[in-house]
Amino acid sequence: MILIGKTLIKISTVYFVIGTLIGYYMSIVHNYDLTPVHVHINLLGWTALTLAGILYHLFPKLAAAKLGKIHFWLHNIGLPLMMAGLFLMIAFQLESLTTVIAGGATLTTAGVLIFALNVWMHLNEEDAA
Ligand code: HEM
Repeated sequence: MILIGKTLIKISTVYFVIGTLIGYYMSIVHNYDLTPVHVHINLLGWTALTLAGILYHLFPKLAAAKLGKIHFWLHNIGLPLMMAGLFLMIAFQLESLTTVIAGGATLTTAGVLIFALNVWMHLNEEDAA
């Protein structure tokens, strides 16, 4: 069984490293084309996933709920697709990747909606750990 809270926190640190390296790269070469990738990796990958991971850890019923697992997979499939697509589109002018980006964005957005639904449905069922 995957402990989704701790796993999300570990995954989020990978996004933090990648997001920071992209920011560092942009500040060294003075080219800010990758700002949209940097921003979304840092905010949806690092901050949002860390916060979600902490909530899943604090409130185990959120992690145990089916909605928690669905959010976990939607976010972890959708965000890499969206970020890889956006990166390749910007770096190599691959406009054909808009479908991949939109597909990843749709999965990620669905994941966020399901995360919010899970919190509203199950948070009151328990006290903080
Ligand atoms: C050492 C770490 C970081 C470096 C070197 C860095 C560097 C940069 C650079 C060079 C830009 C582009 C600025 C421009 O377009 O003029 C930028 C934009 C941005 N960064 Fe970072 N960044 C870092 C960490 C973070 C983190 C942790 C977050 C969020 C959690 C973040 C959020 C943003 C946002 C929202 C923007 C867009 C700002 C705007 O366009 O107005 N950055 N960053």
